[in-house]
Amino acid sequence: MIIVKLGGSVISNKDEPFSFNEEAVKNIAEEISSFYPEKKFVIVHGGGSYGHPLASKYKIREGMGGIERMIGTSITHQAMLELNGKIIDIFLSKALPAFSVSPSSIFIMKAGKIAYGNIKVIMELVERGFIPVLFGDVCLDEEKGIDILSGDNIISYLEEKMDVEKVIFLMDVDGIYDKNPEEEDANLIENIDEYISIDSSIKKFDVTGGIENKIKEAMNMRCRVYFINGFMRGNLSKAIEGKKVGSIKEADKSYKSHQPL
Ligand code: IPE
Repeated sequence: MIIVKLGGSVISNKDEPFSFNEEAVKNIAEEISSFYPEKKFVIVHGGGSYGHPLASKYKIREGMGGIERMIGTSITHQAMLELNGKIIDIFLSKALPAFSVSPSSIFIMKAGKIAYGNIKVIMELVERGFIPVLFGDVCLDEEKGIDILSGDNIISYLEEKMDVEKVIFLMDVDGIYDKNPEEEDANLIENIDEYISIDSSIKKFDVTGGIENKIKEAMNMRCRVYFINGFMRGNLSKAIEGKKVGSIKEADKSYKSHQPL
């Protein structure tokens, strides 16, 4: 089974609220359709300009906080469902049996991580040939009451519990850089393991927030992880075929995905 993350900056334009990059999603679905049903997929998409502005407007990361925040939590979830629906529709139009699974219905968080997850439905959907489509969502939290669950967190959890061949992150840049890719002297890191082994410290990367978290989560995964540009046609196919593209973190030597799942 291959997990593909459709980053929020690929499926929407983060500077424009509620924008949807239909063309980019169509291209991605088309590439996936040439490998389906031989390959099994789970799709996880981000919040982009649907989720993030609402999550900050209603301060959801601060946890439970009265009726206004509860309404905001529900509004944010509904916006994510709307975005999810657009993605599912495109997959269906390419004859892919995409099936929506709401993370807030199957996960409970604690301290920024998934503390409880009921993923039996996801496993069985994949087994039957469906393509579950999950997304960054609002989520119940054991301590804060509510929180935001990122798509990246979901992927780490699934990678730990399921038999995953590889994880492919689609981004709006060519992969992981040694510093902010907008800086002129930023270099693309093709082999993440090699780069880290020289210093063995995550601090080597002059990056912050989301990207730092992404690298940390990828390093904890057992399988091969790709970070590629989701706007470049053909990139996703290369990653699915196991070719060299973007930034790659190799699978742990002892890890082998055995089952077809
Ligand atoms: C965020 O999900 C979800 C919400 C804000 C509700 P992600 O953290 O996975 O989204 P992107 O990929 O950064 O947009």
